[in-house]
Amino acid sequence: MSTIHMDPTLAYSKAFNFIIQEWHKMLVAGTSSQEICFSNSTSVVYATDEEDQVVGAILFSVDQTKRQGWIYLGAVAEHMRQKGVYSEMYDRVESECRAQGAISLSSNVHVSNTPMLEALRRFDREPAWLKTIKKL
Ligand SMILES: CC(C)(COP(=O)(O)OP(=O)(O)OC[C@H]1O[C@@H](n2cnc3c(N)ncnc32)[C@H](O)[C@@H]1OP(=O)(O)O)[C@@H](O)C(=O)NCCC(=O)NCCS
Repeated sequence: MSTIHMDPTLAYSKAFNFIIQEWHKMLVAGTSSQEICFSNSTSVVYATDEEDQVVGAILFSVDQTKRQGWIYLGAVAEHMRQKGVYSEMYDRVESECRAQGAISLSSNVHVSNTPMLEALRRFDREPAWLKTIKKL
């Protein structure tokens, strides 16, 4: 059983180290691009276990000019996957985005990332745009 928390900023969040570690794993796996798309001011929803260890986190913000929620990164510790932790965090992010006035919630997902694509379908998030790339 996990407990869900929210910090208004990534800077000095309890989830900071977890996020940087998991982001590195995603970079190695090729499921995150080599761009820093979040910042100190990005909000964080995270999950802790019974020992108060961070076991999952989602980075997000709401662009008020577009009324759009955006998820920059989300991960669950390997030993805690497929137990509903991401789903719990996602529900909190979605309700927080609604409360801040967002009328949509989006993120970029690598085409090879089946677990995340399946998770997003489970939350009624269908792929809407296709990004094409030619390396120059
Ligand atoms: C994607 C990820 C966050 C899912 O976290 P999770 O806590 O295991 O997800 P949940 O247990 O809440 O599962 C939610 C849904 O996701 C789908 N899902 C999760 N893992 C899956 C897998 N390995 N294969 C297929 N579908 C999967 C299922 O549809 C599941 O719904 P169900 O339980 O009703 O079947 C996790 O696999 C992860 O941390 N991956 C590495 C980080 C990453 O790639 N992040 C995306 C880049 S930003």
